[in-house]
Amino acid sequence: MKVLVCGKGGSGKSTVAALLAKSMAKRGYRVLVADSDESNYGLHRQLGMELPPTLMDHFGGRRGVKEKMGRPSQGGEGPGFFDGRWTIDEIPPEATAEKDGIKLLAIGKIHDFGEGCACPMGSLSRNFLDNLSVGEKEMVIVDTEAGIEHFGRGVEAGCDAILAVLDPSFESILLSKKIAEISEKINKPLYFVLNRVDDERKAAMMESLDGRRVAAAIPETEEIFRAGLSGTELDLIVKEMEGLADFLLLRKTG
Ligand SMILES: Nc1ncnc2c1ncn2[C@@H]1O[C@H](COP(=O)(O)OP(=O)(O)O)[C@@H](O)[C@H]1O
Ligand SMILES: [Mg+2]
Repeated sequence: MKVLVCGKGGSGKSTVAALLAKSMAKRGYRVLVADSDESNYGLHRQLGMELPPTLMDHFGGRRGVKEKMGRPSQGGEGPGFFDGRWTIDEIPPEATAEKDGIKLLAIGKIHDFGEGCACPMGSLSRNFLDNLSVGEKEMVIVDTEAGIEHFGRGVEAGCDAILAVLDPSFESILLSKKIAEISEKINKPLYFVLNRVDDERKAAMMESLDGRRVAAAIPETEEIFRAGLSGTELDLIVKEMEGLADFLLLRKTG
C-alpha cells in the first residue's frame, strides 16, 4: 500500500507520516517513508535518523535528473529514471537511511538561493512512485510539501490512498474541499486526519467536513509539541494513531 500524506503547511503532515510509519513498523511491516517535501528538513529527525543523500543526488543532481527526464525509460514507466521497476529493497542504499524497520528516502532538497524550482523533484517523485512495487507486508508513506502543487505534478497517480491532515483552521477546511474535488477526479480514496483536536474542536470541524472521510482525530499533546520544539525523535505511542493504522489496514484488505 502506498499512502500519500498532504495538507497545509504546519498542519502536522510530517508528524502523522512519522507516527504512522512507526506504528506500521511495530506491526511487522517493512515501511518506506518517502520525503517529497523539498523545502523542509524535519522529517528525518522525527524518525530519529540522519538525512541521507537524496534520490536526486543519486541521479546526478538537478542536471542529471533533467537529462533523464528527456529520455524514455528502458523497461520502466515514464521518463528514463528507472530501468524496470524497483522494490523497496532495490532502492540504492546510499540514498536511504534506516532504523527499526523503517527506510527513509528523500527525493530532493532545495539547498541554495536561486538554485531553481522544485519541478524536477516533483517529476522524480511521481516517477519513483509509479515505478515502485510494494509487497504484501510493506507500506510506503509519502510526506509531501504544503498545499496542492503535488497534485498538479501527478504525484498521487502512483498512490493507493490520500490522507489529508487538517488542523482546526479555515484554511484547512477550504483545502479539504479542493483536495476532495481533485481526489474524486483522479479516483483515489481520500481520508481526513484531524490534528490538534479535542472533542469540541472536532465537532466544530465536522460541521464543515464530510464526516465519512474522517479516519482519525489526533489530540494536541505536550509530548509531540516538545519533540517538535527540540527536533527529536517521535518515539511515542499515540493511541489515535494506532486507530489510524488499523483503519488503513482494514481498507487495504478490502
Ligand atoms: N498533535 C500535535 N500536538 C502537538 N504538537 C503538534 C501536533 N502535531 C504537530 N505538532 C507540531 O507542529 C509542528 C508542525 O508539525 P509538522 O508535522 O512538521 O507539520 P507539517 O509537516 O504539516 O508542516 C511541529 O513542531 C510538530 O511537533
Ligand atoms: Mg512537513
